[in-house]
Amino acid sequence: MRCGKNWLALMLCGFALAVGGCRTPDHATKPNQERAETMQDVYQFLKDAGVYYIATVDGDQPRVRPFGTIHIFDGKLYIQTGKRKNVSRQLGINGKTELCAMKGDEWIRLSGTLVNDDRREAKASMLDAYPELKKMYSPDDDNTQVLYFKDATATIYSFSREPIEIKF
Ligand SMILES: Cc1cc2nc3c(=O)[nH]c(=O)nc-3n(C[C@H](O)[C@H](O)[C@H](O)COP(=O)(O)O)c2cc1C
Repeated sequence: MRCGKNWLALMLCGFALAVGGCRTPDHATKPNQERAETMQDVYQFLKDAGVYYIATVDGDQPRVRPFGTIHIFDGKLYIQTGKRKNVSRQLGINGKTELCAMKGDEWIRLSGTLVNDDRREAKASMLDAYPELKKMYSPDDDNTQVLYFKDATATIYSFSREPIEIKF
């Protein structure tokens, strides 16, 4: 009798595996900290959020403003600004920055150092990703600036689970 039950269990499991019913996505089986979130996830979060708020240091005064540009180029995460802006001047003195954004019931904090990249191809790639900016900026003007994150730590928070930390 016991042997018969074992056969039945084996057959049922085999059938379930064959139709994929036993498969569970990785993210459902692994704790959040074991999931392989990457810079791409940070990019997607900020892209979906649409707007993030980015802080710079101005002497002993924090400064914060809304930004929207976010782009991956050459394996790095970039933002765009204008060299004539205060934000650019502040980043030139101290590249340390932190930004935050919200998406649904999650929010992100991303900190790191922003490094200026004067390569024409980096600016052109950003402007291709945001064609509407071409009314104001060009890769060949003396104003367009793109900067990438170095030594970055992103943390994605939710009220319903532990924070997820991503370094890149
Ligand atoms: C939704 C939104 C998105 C923006 N995105 C950017 C951006 O990606 N880059 C940028 O330089 N300015 C952007 N701006 C404009 C800046 O917030 C604005 O120029 C700000 O004053 C710059 O900071 P500063 O005055 O400290 O230099 C955005 C404004 C809004 C409202």
